[in-house]
Amino acid sequence: MLLHLDASARRASYSRRLSGMYAERWRTAHPGDGYVHRDLAADPVPHIGEAWTELCDYVLEHEISEISRYKEAVRTPAQQDAWAIVEPLLDEVVAADVVLIGTPMYNYSIPSSLKAWLDQITFPRMSLRGRSFVVTSARGGAYGPGTPREPLDHQERYLRDFFRGHFGIEDVTFVHAELVNALLDPALRHRRVEHDRSLAAAIEAVTG
Ligand SMILES: Cc1cc2nc3c(=O)[nH]c(=O)nc-3n(C[C@H](O)[C@H](O)[C@H](O)COP(=O)(O)O)c2cc1C
Repeated sequence: MLLHLDASARRASYSRRLSGMYAERWRTAHPGDGYVHRDLAADPVPHIGEAWTELCDYVLEHEISEISRYKEAVRTPAQQDAWAIVEPLLDEVVAADVVLIGTPMYNYSIPSSLKAWLDQITFPRMSLRGRSFVVTSARGGAYGPGTPREPLDHQERYLRDFFRGHFGIEDVTFVHAELVNALLDPALRHRRVEHDRSLAAAIEAVTG
């Protein structure tokens, strides 16, 4: 199953365009393998609340590592409400062979809509091994290896570190469309060609 998430606040979004192309190719190559699309901007998941933290504390304290056992943590009506939000989100991730995330860079990092989803589905000592993660991203500037802004990339670095460190995922692919602001910002207009090249390479990467 392909779980496809989008997080851009824009409809005419580059990260959505790239994730859409990837999804189309995957679905053609895997007919009948299942597909779920979740638009985290149009239909945001709520931030975690206190009852969610109680579920998390219980899982930690009782050394529950199997996702299928998390529901043992539900003891109160408030925790039941919190679990009613978590359960379908977790079911989707567990069922996925590939998790595809279309995300912009916002303020050097990821949109809060994507962070809210990650907070909801993440529990202590949780493994999602065996799945592939693909991230299609768009950024206003350029953050590639060797560029002055490389150290400021807390989008790829954060997601890569988190997927590997917490979920145990090694198979993570990033595809970036960079310098999108060259289309808008007069100060970046001279870098328009670099944007065109970056976008063309990103399209090539997702369409194969
Ligand atoms: C709230 C906000 C914050 C942004 N922060 C950054 C940033 O820190 N660095 C950057 O290069 N571009 C930044 N941008 C530009 C976006 O990354 C760029 O517009 C990108 O195309 C957004 O992805 P999308 O086309 O999928 O919506 C920001 C845009 C918005 C709306």
